[in-house]
Formats: sequence, structure tokens, C-alpha cells
Amino acid sequence: MTPEFALEHEADGDALPRLSLRALHRPKFGTICADWLTPDLARRIGAGRKQPLARAVGLNKPRAPEEGPLRVLDATAGLGRDGFTLAMLGAAVSLLERNPTTCALLRDARLRALAAAGAQAAAERIEILEGDAVARMADAANHGRWDVIYLDPMYPDDGKSALPSKEMQLLRELTGGDADADALLAPALRCARRRVVVKRPSKAPPLGGRAPSLSFDGTQLRFDVYLCPFNP
Ligand SMILES: C[S@@+](CC[C@H](N)C(=O)[O-])C[C@H]1O[C@@H](n2cnc3c(N)ncnc32)[C@H](O)[C@@H]1O
Repeated sequence: MTPEFALEHEADGDALPRLSLRALHRPKFGTICADWLTPDLARRIGAGRKQPLARAVGLNKPRAPEEGPLRVLDATAGLGRDGFTLAMLGAAVSLLERNPTTCALLRDARLRALAAAGAQAAAERIEILEGDAVARMADAANHGRWDVIYLDPMYPDDGKSALPSKEMQLLRELTGGDADADALLAPALRCARRRVVVKRPSKAPPLGGRAPSLSFDGTQLRFDVYLCPFNP
């Protein structure tokens, strides 16, 4: 079956219509979109700066006003939920995504968040960048631009785990999976000012086989932290 996708606008009550992705080769799947204003995500954000994602990134540490917000590059943005969570918790977030269709969904999510009273300030702290993270992080002009680089590449489907969610299945078919994920770590470690954070399934080996400085355990997943104390 050859994957075939179409973007369409769906009405969303009184809110702005949302851009959605339909998999024409999977008529029973319905559509997916980047939705940052769901009750699920609100619950995650409500868990605050003590949750493993926020602690791994360093958002739980106090910052002096003159330092401004923590600058995070979410280099594998996907549908932007982790990045939006970090922005809602106070970070200035660059969402970088190489798949143009996924990028269009991200731009639409940001527009809708800008129009939502409780999300507007966070959406203003988000920028969306399209392109390949390895190239962007390897560009010396970007070194030191972000305090933290966050990586969440797709983990290979080993066929052993429960069936992936429909959304993850479609994202995998759309982007082709992230078989080149190991190549992200070395340029990220050179580019980040303070740390690189990698989201992994609990039992997965670390990215690129490289042991992290520390890890924070979440539900069914963990966040591996690589400190970069010598970067400028
Ligand atoms: C598992 S998803 C990320 C999910 C995301 N953390 C979220 O909260 O929605 C991984 C995404 O990373 C993107 N990606 C993988 N490698 C990349 C690279 N080298 N440059 C840019 N994007 C990349 C893929 O296209 C995919 O959309």
C-alpha cells in the first residue's frame, strides 16, 4: 500500500478551522492535526516544572530576570506537543521539523494557540523553523544560540511493543521513520550552550549508544541529559 496524504481544513466550532492530515490509504483512521489546546496536554502542562521533561531541560531552576527565558531548540518537533509544553512552562522554543507537511500542521497549531487567551503568551515565545536539524546544528553560526537542545526522534518499531497509536503510525508513514536518529547527538552536543536532552522509551539504549550524564524517568519513557559544560 503506497501512503498517500491530503491536507484539509476542518471546522472547529467557534475557533479557527484547523489544518488536518488525512491518510487516503487508511480511510478508517480519520484525520490527525497538531492540537495544543487539548485537555490531555493541559493536564501535562498543569503538572508544572517538577515533571521529568521540565526537570530534564532545567526549567525547574530559578533564572535571574536579566537572563530572559531559557532558549530551547526542539530539533525534532513532530506535532509540537513537547515544545508547546516547554513554552507554556516559560521557555522560548524554536520548533524545528524537516517534514514540510508536519511543519504546515505546526504553523497552524501556533496560529490557533495565538488566538487562545491562555496560550497566546506561550505561542508568542515559539518560532517554527523548517529544515534538517543535523545541518542547522552543524552550522557554526547557530552555536550557542540555544541553551538546550531537545531531541525526540522516532524510535524504530521493533514489532514487539503494543501497536503504535494511529497518530504515530501515520507520522511514521508520512516522515519515513527516523532511521538516521543517531546522527543528531554529536552536532547537538557541539551546538547547545548547556545541555542536550533526549527522550527515549524506558528500556531503549541511549541514543547513539552514548551514556548520558543523568536521566529522569517518566511513565514508559525517560529523558537522558547530556551536559555540555565547556560550550561557550
Ligand atoms: C517522534 S516525532 C516528535 C514528537 C514531538 N516530540 C511531539 O511532542 O509531538 C519525531 C519528529 O522528528 C522529525 N525529525 C527527525 N529527524 C529530524 C531531523 N534530522 N531534522 C528535523 N526533523 C527531524 C521527524 O520528521 C518527526 O516529525
